[in-house]
Formats: sequence, C-alpha cells, structure tokens
Amino acid sequence: MAKKTTRPQALSPAAPDEGRGVPIERDEIALVKDPRGRVAEQFRGLRNSIIALNPEGAPRSVVLTSSSPKEGKTVATINLGLSLAELPGTEVLLIDANLHSPGIEEYLGLQPRQGLADVLSGTCDLDSAVRATSVPGVQVMGAGTLPDNPSQLLGSERMRTVLGTLKRGFSYVLIDTPEALRISDASLLGGIADGIVLVVRLGLTPRHHVEQTHNTLEALGGNVLGTCLTGAEEDGGFD
Ligand SMILES: Nc1ncnc2c1ncn2[C@@H]1O[C@H](COP(=O)(O)OP(=O)(O)OP(=O)(O)O)[C@@H](O)[C@H]1O
Ligand SMILES: [Mg+2]
Repeated sequence: MAKKTTRPQALSPAAPDEGRGVPIERDEIALVKDPRGRVAEQFRGLRNSIIALNPEGAPRSVVLTSSSPKEGKTVATINLGLSLAELPGTEVLLIDANLHSPGIEEYLGLQPRQGLADVLSGTCDLDSAVRATSVPGVQVMGAGTLPDNPSQLLGSERMRTVLGTLKRGFSYVLIDTPEALRISDASLLGGIADGIVLVVRLGLTPRHHVEQTHNTLEALGGNVLGTCLTGAEEDGGFD
C-alpha cells in the first residue's frame, strides 16, 4: 500500500537537488515503469485533452480530486505530470495539497520535507519548498508539516497568492488533494485553479457520488475539465 505509517513531526527544508538522483521505483508510475504500456498511453490521452483546452499554451493550474479515498488521485497526478513533461519545454510542478494523507513524495521515493503547509503558515519560503525530481521538467512541492487546520490554510488568501506566483514559473501546476465528498479542501482549491480533473476508480464509486462531487466542485466555482478513469483491468478515458 502507498501510505507511510510514520512521518516526522518536524520536517527540515529540502536541498534543491537532493531528489535528482532518486529513481522512481513504484510500479504505479506507469510513465516511468512501463512508458509504452496501455496505462501510460491513457495518461498521454488525458494530457492531450487538457492541452487541447489550452491552445494558447498559457500556464495552467489543475486540481486532481475524487469522491472517495484511494481512487488513484496521487498516482494520476504524478503520471499526468510526467506525461506533460514529455513535451519539449514543458515545466511541471506537482503540489501535494493532501494535508490529511499526503503521498506524492512517497511515490517518488523522496523524503518528506518542508512543503506547502510550511509555505502557507509562513515557516518556509517558496523556493525552499520546491525540489527537482529525477525526471527532467518535473519538480515537486510536498505537503510539508501536517497542520491541524488544513482547510484554513488552503482557503487562505496566501494560497491564492502562492498559486499565482508558482504559475509564473511553470507551464503546468498539478495539485493533488483529498477526496472531495468528505473534505472541502479540493473544492476550495478547485475554485482558485484553472481546472479540475475528477479521478474515478471503476467499480468503486457509485455514480451518484461522482455526480454529487462534480456538482459540489462546480458550485464552488470549479471548472471540471473531465474525468480520469482508473482501475486495474478496465479501459480508462477522459471525457
Ligand atoms: N490506475 C490504477 N489502477 C490500479 N490501481 C491503482 C491505480 N492508481 C492507483 N492505484 C492503487 O490504488 C491505491 C490508491 O492510489 P493513490 O494513492 O493514488 O490513491 P489516492 O486517491 O491518492 O488515495 P488517498 O485518498 O489516500 O490520497 C494504491 O494502492 C495504488 O497502488
Ligand atoms: Mg493521495
């Protein structure tokens, strides 16, 4: 399973290049582990759909969320980011905004370091929270020191400012979030991002939950670009 059991209380700042030599080992990261396979191709399809919605190539922020836990949001965020970075000149930032159950650093094989929560609470500057990965064109900002008040931090004016600043440095900023039905964070972030991708695990989530999530996200000003279907044996897609 993906999740760690221990996470240090006090995190140190990352060295900017410490992740460069750390290979991605997890099988779920299809763009690295099976780049010619079906799953990797599906993520390229999702990438192409997102790019088609952005013909002028403006910097874009995209929230990934789902109705329920464990639908594959974190894996999808990373694979989509890697597929975007395959395009020449495309710089991608992966942000772990799941301050309840972060996962991006672990999937990438990286140590947890100061990250988004530290930036929002003012204990870490933006540059110190961003790290290179072993994949050219892909950088990461981890969740950081998990706070007691995630929604307060993510819903703050500072979050909007931080996102605006980050968009100036990257072609795409992808934001991994908690499940949207139980926790409001994805809806908050969706309202300030340019778009939302709804991750749906086939066979897990009832259709009415997906519809309810979609409606909640749009009610808070979110722009749902489409759905990313995940599931071991079924065909995925983007609509
Ligand atoms: N496309 C996929 N097909 C099959 N299994 C997958 C797929 N994507 C992820 N998984 C598996 O599903 C589990 C959950 O994946 P992931 O951590 O990406 O979900 P999540 O939605 O981010 O979870 P959380 O709600 O805890 O943040 C993991 O065990 C992962 O290996
Ligand atoms: Mg996750």
